[in-house]
Amino acid sequence: MELITTDVAIVGAGGAGLRAAIALAQSAPALRIALISKVYPMRSHTCAAEGGAAGVVKPDDSFDMHFDDTVGGGDWLSDQDCVEYFVREAPKELTQLEHWGCPWNREADGSVAVRPFGGMKKQRTWFAADKSGFHILHTLFQTTLQFPSITRFDEYYALDLLVDDGRCQGLTAMEMRSGMVKQFNAGAVIIAGGGAGRIFPFSTNGAIKTGDGMAMAYRAGVPLKDMEFVQYHPTGLPNTGSLLTEACRGEGGVLVNKNGRRYLQDYGMGPETPLGKPELKTMELGPRDRVSQAYWHELQKGNTVSTQWGECVMLDMRHLGEKTINERLPLVRELAIAYLGVDIVTDAVPIRPVVHYMMGGISTNTQAATTLPGLFAAGECACVSLNGANRLGSNSLVELLVFGKSAAMSAIAHLQGLPAANTAALEAQAKESQARIRALFSCTDGTESMSGLRKEMMDTMEKNAGIYRTEAGLQEAVDKIQQLRQRYQNVVLNDKSNVFNTDLFQVLELGSMLECASALTVGALARRESRGAHQRLDFVDRDDQNYLRHSMAHYQGQKMPTVDYLDVVITKSPPGVRDYSGAHK
Ligand code: FUM
Repeated sequence: MELITTDVAIVGAGGAGLRAAIALAQSAPALRIALISKVYPMRSHTCAAEGGAAGVVKPDDSFDMHFDDTVGGGDWLSDQDCVEYFVREAPKELTQLEHWGCPWNREADGSVAVRPFGGMKKQRTWFAADKSGFHILHTLFQTTLQFPSITRFDEYYALDLLVDDGRCQGLTAMEMRSGMVKQFNAGAVIIAGGGAGRIFPFSTNGAIKTGDGMAMAYRAGVPLKDMEFVQYHPTGLPNTGSLLTEACRGEGGVLVNKNGRRYLQDYGMGPETPLGKPELKTMELGPRDRVSQAYWHELQKGNTVSTQWGECVMLDMRHLGEKTINERLPLVRELAIAYLGVDIVTDAVPIRPVVHYMMGGISTNTQAATTLPGLFAAGECACVSLNGANRLGSNSLVELLVFGKSAAMSAIAHLQGLPAANTAALEAQAKESQARIRALFSCTDGTESMSGLRKEMMDTMEKNAGIYRTEAGLQEAVDKIQQLRQRYQNVVLNDKSNVFNTDLFQVLELGSMLECASALTVGALARRESRGAHQRLDFVDRDDQNYLRHSMAHYQGQKMPTVDYLDVVITKSPPGVRDYSGAHK
């Protein structure tokens, strides 16, 4: 097996991975950096982000306000030391991106433009039209190209971490074009592999978001934190699940039911605001969890619109006018025309909530360190406890930057004075990892189809772990996921070739997704309260007495995970009432 020796291996080359690579290369130019990604970096899912990135920049805003919005939006499950750090770093990171070439929209006076976003009291979302993720990713990617210490391993599928002497010392990864498993020995590993939204059938997430990084850390003994919190974005295209950015509502778009009523006023987000003048933190700019939950209630009441793509509500932007739409929402217009044949200039567009983001992930502290020395994580795959029970739109693009950089700085500190590696022990582990793949190739009596198992997983997640949940439904999901994990042991690999074997990668991805789904469902069943994006019809209230705590799911091999809890860090904001009625103004 080929051995690649490096100082830091980064798994994932989206926003967090690229930001980590730049920070490493700038701060410690002598370090060798291996940037490993299952897709070419510009195909990472950061590219799909649309609306923008939050950071205090205007004189009427403050770090305290960004802190309050984030903590309240997260239903007090955020670690407040983390949020305090984040809000201060956010504008620095966004300005740094500008210096690297990110084309932020400008105000008429040349200053950075910001737009309103859900759950934010002030306008603080920096944006590049509605292609912010594309421009951020492009800016980061082109910046990495100037550093000779960064070696890219594009289209490599990460397999297993190498852990010896109580610390992470590398990983194995398969070169996808040859099928060769390679061993990466590294003093530190940073996982930045994105979320796992693809365990659900209807998602804004690209097909690559299968939780491989999360599962790799979890199998190595690192807990997954707060996995039960899954964000539904209120406005997805009903057929493809493509995102129609929250910026549609930030710019003044409204949501109406089949009677033409702006129904959010019936769910604590009123009073109705004048058309074209979005009020911060109310109506269409309520937080995502509340807006998606309101859709569910409208569906129960029979107030949704029946379309050829299923039940929907309507997102109406006609009053914004063609000029504003073309300037600020060109991609939204393009998507609605391409996928639904609806021009948002002349017609309201049908939408429905769609799985968008996982608040949970690999448990890290504010320095992006996991419980396993030498292993760091950042971005959606990590749970640094910024987002609590419900992330505010536009915080995550900044999270990638702030904690991608933290991961790099922590990795540099970890490398100081490390003892020499026991290379024989690492090689033995790499061979075990390779043997795991070979076993899939040599198995001739498999009975289970990858696509069949995957469909059953997705169906059970949608049915039982969606916007509203119950004990019975979650128990059904836990049992089903455990059954699917067992059946997965007999999965058939139909394609036995070596070159770009997509059948193999989908089998491996399914394995990752089943691990994420097990942590998610077990965590959701155990959390007998309603908080943020985790809503239980049988436990309708938030229960701070028992659940002002992070869930920590621990891998147990063939068995389902165990869950224990970690206290939330409260520094200055005791749990309070989330008020999006406008009454606070
Ligand atoms: O709606 C959006 O543009 C999504 C932004 C986000 O998830 O932060």
